[in-house]
Amino acid sequence: MFRIDRHPILPTPSHTEIPFFWEGRTLMAREGETISSALFANGVRIFGHHPKDGAAQGIFCANGQCSQCLVLADGIPVKACLELIRPGLRVEPVEGLPVLPRVDAADDLSARLKDIEEVRVPVLIIGGGPAGLSAAIELGKRGVEALIIDDKHRLGGKLVLQTHRFFGSIEAVYAGTRGIDIATRLEKDVRSSPSLRIWLQAAALAVFSDRKVGVLIEGRRYVLVSPEVLLVAAGAREKNLAFPGNTLPGVYGAGAFQTLVNRDLVKPTGRLFIVGGGNVGLIAGYHALQAGIAVSGLVEVMPECGGYKVHRDKLARLGVPIFTSHTVLSANGTERVESVTVARVDEHFRPVPGTEKSFACDTLLIAVGLDPVSEFYEKAREFGMTAFAAGDAEEIAEASAAIFSGKIRGLEVARSLGHDVGGISEEWYRTAEILKSKPGKTLPETVPEDESGVFPVLHCNQEIPCDPCTAVCPNNLIEIDRTDIRMLPAFFSSRDGKGCTGCERCVAICPGLAITMVDFRKDPEFPTVAIPLEFPKETLRAGDSVVVEDTEGQALGRVEVAAVKAIKANDRTVIVKVRAPREYAKKIAGLRLQPERESDPLERYVERTEDDTIICRCERVTAGEIRKLIREGLRDINEIKALTRTSMGSCGAKTCTPLVHRLFREEGVPESEIVDQPKRPLFLEVPLGVFAGLADEKGKEGGEA
Ligand code: FES
Repeated sequence: MFRIDRHPILPTPSHTEIPFFWEGRTLMAREGETISSALFANGVRIFGHHPKDGAAQGIFCANGQCSQCLVLADGIPVKACLELIRPGLRVEPVEGLPVLPRVDAADDLSARLKDIEEVRVPVLIIGGGPAGLSAAIELGKRGVEALIIDDKHRLGGKLVLQTHRFFGSIEAVYAGTRGIDIATRLEKDVRSSPSLRIWLQAAALAVFSDRKVGVLIEGRRYVLVSPEVLLVAAGAREKNLAFPGNTLPGVYGAGAFQTLVNRDLVKPTGRLFIVGGGNVGLIAGYHALQAGIAVSGLVEVMPECGGYKVHRDKLARLGVPIFTSHTVLSANGTERVESVTVARVDEHFRPVPGTEKSFACDTLLIAVGLDPVSEFYEKAREFGMTAFAAGDAEEIAEASAAIFSGKIRGLEVARSLGHDVGGISEEWYRTAEILKSKPGKTLPETVPEDESGVFPVLHCNQEIPCDPCTAVCPNNLIEIDRTDIRMLPAFFSSRDGKGCTGCERCVAICPGLAITMVDFRKDPEFPTVAIPLEFPKETLRAGDSVVVEDTEGQALGRVEVAAVKAIKANDRTVIVKVRAPREYAKKIAGLRLQPERESDPLERYVERTEDDTIICRCERVTAGEIRKLIREGLRDINEIKALTRTSMGSCGAKTCTPLVHRLFREEGVPESEIVDQPKRPLFLEVPLGVFAGLADEKGKEGGEA
């Protein structure tokens, strides 16, 4: 079984096992998991073959957005990443076009038709992630009735995938607390509020011109919700990338990977490679290592990673090579990924011949950015509804920013309904802007001159919104400019006659693992260095020899581990103590855990032709087919659609549209000349009978949770 049985942060409780069938074979799943996770846990990565060219199909988004994961469940085509497994469920691959289920001529469907249920609510919140829950809590505090709908089977959105401590401000957004724990806190607050209702596995299908929102619950029950105010907090979808081999099973979004690993404790791969050095890619690499998965490398096309430097440094120190100014040329393999080929790019982002390298891997994560799921908000505004957007659905930023924007939107929604919320202070809006901001200046790292006593060394030298270290020092020795928490923290050796006691609280709480504690008191020539680690305590033992590194991952030397400390107060952050020579003790920022051989390139690079580049993954339309039409003068995407079937597939054009625009850009066509296609109205594929109120045969009436 491909399960994660041990994890440094996530609990691994025992689960009830249930049998299901895959191609007639009995497999075991965990109760409450999705079909895709159950299949991955059993080593099944290929879910079928495409009707057009027989290409193998797997997952891409694991988030209901791409339709790549179609399987037959008891004969009905369903998205494996959304549908939960049931005991005895017969799951089959989709080989070619699925056959429509037979309707018995003797079956009187009219007898099973029901009136469509309609519900009126003061506030409907689409999305139970950080923004939606935070908004709901503000509404709940004021007794405003709100209904929260979420298409997943649990609340929390992307927070449930985040094992690391959060950045931002302790005061405003629980900084210093792990994302998974923030999700639990928010859910508890929501559930304790009597004015809030929750529907899980409830997907918003569309916002209609009569100002009703169609909601599909558990894929079977259809409800029309009429809200006085709509708040869209539906999050974001991952961007796709065009390169040969981009649809092979094993190429998937970083969010999909985190879903499998951190939500469902499935180990989908032994060795992966990452494209994209933003926070999502960097964190996904870190999560892989925590789950015992080797990371062969990460490429970022820009000269610097766009994510927080502390995330980048953490990954580099653990032994993952980061290739900036590099791009992916191809994912290679026949039925699934076997290797990836990358190359350096010039100043125009063109691959430089002769710089190609291939790495063995079975998984390639795409982490090249996110697009807001904003279509519900746009439609609501078009149809004259009172509507707000929060979190990534409004603007892509960190989850901490989504929490705070949710709080503000919650107050704005309450105010729009006539509740007195007082003035929402300018300070709140300023904090929201700070939390959303991109990383600022990177300053040269300064190493303290002192070589006596005990003190922390702050290895964080990039301006990002983050302040947990300032709140935990019992003697207030770490300070950040309170008017702007993006400024770098400063350490003061004494205040009010009190100095550092070596309590290590700052070491344990830093979300970037960027603080160490150097103690010269016992042996000034071989001081002890306390280093934070978010790996199982058993990873290292006293007496082990380890390579220690500076902030950016350069090896400083090999030293002996003196002790490994795991105490409850440090909340699963282990403190490793090493004794190191005075010459470099203060420069030590981390330990290398991944052996270097994991990132050795193959001896020869693997080539693949451009023709393999798929733009529309649902209809398997290549870049070459679309480019030809653009070169022939076509500027209307509707015409391209009619001639090639691009964007006519079941994902509703969500994954290919940005790629088609990119092809136009590559051909030098200005955006103003492109005629876009209308947005497809339904967010998900839905059995037609749902709209006629065809009652579910199984009589399922799920929803309220
Ligand atoms: S993988 Fe299931 S919809 Fe994308």
